Amino acid sequence: MIGIIGAMAVEVDGLIEAMEEKTPETISRMTFWRGTLGGAACVVAQCGAGKVNAAVCAQTMILRFGAEIVINTGVAGGVGSRDVRIGDLVVASAVVQHDYDTTPIDGDKGRDLPLLGVSAIETDDRVSGLLAACAKETYGGGVHRGVIATGDQFISGRDRLHEIAARTGAIACEMEGGSIGQACALAGVPFAVLRAISDNADDNAVDDFPKFAAESARKSIALLLEALPRL
Ligand code: ADE
Repeated sequence: MIGIIGAMAVEVDGLIEAMEEKTPETISRMTFWRGTLGGAACVVAQCGAGKVNAAVCAQTMILRFGAEIVINTGVAGGVGSRDVRIGDLVVASAVVQHDYDTTPIDGDKGRDLPLLGVSAIETDDRVSGLLAACAKETYGGGVHRGVIATGDQFISGRDRLHEIAARTGAIACEMEGGSIGQACALAGVPFAVLRAISDNADDNAVDDFPKFAAESARKSIALLLEALPRL
């Protein structure tokens, strides 16, 4: 069973439309659609923005629906690299939570996540490799593999984005991947994060996001639909 999570309707509706033999079930105010996509057994849900909802959704997919892989799809802000442009695809090599910080009491260890003891959680190499390979074959634009930074903030300013990029090495930022990764790592379930860039997390992000989010979200969905039969 493959779990697929998106925060916004536009990030999952195309998948739910494409799903066959689907049945809905609502848990914790989230609707989980179980069915098949390209022949693969999947459960798809819209979790809403932010780390807590995303972790609740991932945990539910694992414990109630038996997800053996969780994939997070959607859009992200491009961070710290001029090469990562609006419309490009990013496959996470690892996820970090840029807003997790207990350094005032824990010093250098204050970025490490509880029970996991690391600040960066690696994504599943096989699934991420397959998504990146599929993207390179089928997508005409830029395809990148790198760290994605997650936090409960929409990043829309150069100072903040440069600070996040310098500290985490991230090439993109969003609001769910890191907590989905944390829930999956705690449960020992492989996960991947696939995002299409909707803005550059800079001073123009507030204008760019509404302009490009829907189109970019559709790119991420299209790639996922190509890749699913191969997973
Ligand atoms: N998702 C898409 N763009 C984003 C941004 N700039 N900050 C956080 N999440 C995002």
